Amino acid sequence: MTFSGRHVISIADFSRGDILTVINAARAIEMQSAPRTELVGGKLMATLFFEPSTRTRLSFEAAMQKLGGRVIGLSDAASTSTKKGESLADTIRMIEQYADVIVIRHPRDGAARLASEVSRVPIINGGDGGNQHPSQTFLDLYTIAKLYPALLDGSAPLTIAFAGDLRYGRTVHSLLTALCHFRVKLVLVAPRGLEMPAEYLQQAAAVGMDVSEAPNLQDAIAQADILYMTRLQEERFPDPLEFDHIKASYRITAHMLSDARQSLRVLHPLPRINEIAIDVDQTVHAHYFAQAGNGIPVRQALLGLVLGVLI
Ligand code: CP
Repeated sequence: MTFSGRHVISIADFSRGDILTVINAARAIEMQSAPRTELVGGKLMATLFFEPSTRTRLSFEAAMQKLGGRVIGLSDAASTSTKKGESLADTIRMIEQYADVIVIRHPRDGAARLASEVSRVPIINGGDGGNQHPSQTFLDLYTIAKLYPALLDGSAPLTIAFAGDLRYGRTVHSLLTALCHFRVKLVLVAPRGLEMPAEYLQQAAAVGMDVSEAPNLQDAIAQADILYMTRLQEERFPDPLEFDHIKASYRITAHMLSDARQSLRVLHPLPRINEIAIDVDQTVHAHYFAQAGNGIPVRQALLGLVLGVLI
């Protein structure tokens, strides 16, 4: 399916071939010695962020500007007409007249899908509630494929461990869906009550993915090629007391990695809070800042594809 004009709402909307198209486009962009500043010249991207963001918003803005495009946006819903009661659908009907592509983050599951149903210009979901974060998934896959090319050719199954808040963490939901296209073993380790929702386990089962639960982080570290940490999503916890109770229970330190295989890499969509001690940054295993850096070529690729200037 062509990318031109396409919405990017859920990773489930993308085939294995689509995912490879994005990864290959990002690789080509990253390998260029000179930036393609003419690619989307004259095009405008709007960022509508109804929830806080550092990486997603700024890396989309950087990506658009590196392609020669321009950016308008809001990062504070309280300063917009949403505050007066304007609906999301009406907001989108306005913004589509100002911009060629819209990146939206919203606290409500399904908000990006709703936006896509009323928009003539491509909508890119920058995260909707606890649901999906597809551009993060493309950059996570790109990062894993750079570290372990075997992800793409299937020559050796990778073991990927997801740790932390697997219930509310939208990045692990999207990533699990995408990994169903590849040959991986999945190890899950989560506090009680924050396990991976059944619908995602069913997706993995449907493709015959080898999924197991680890009793603790140390056990997951011993098995994994990639340890994908997530933060506890405090803002999505219905009960603050429950949050306080378990927030200290999922944390890795450099000491815990001292016997890990050298090739183990720790990823995290960021921001981290308690779950990765600062001393991990100095180890060979820390890869989360490089992962965030991969957001630029991947988001350049996505923008170029949906704006129809890359094929
Ligand atoms: N990874 C990610 O979504 O980060 P931000 O919340 O800072 O955008």
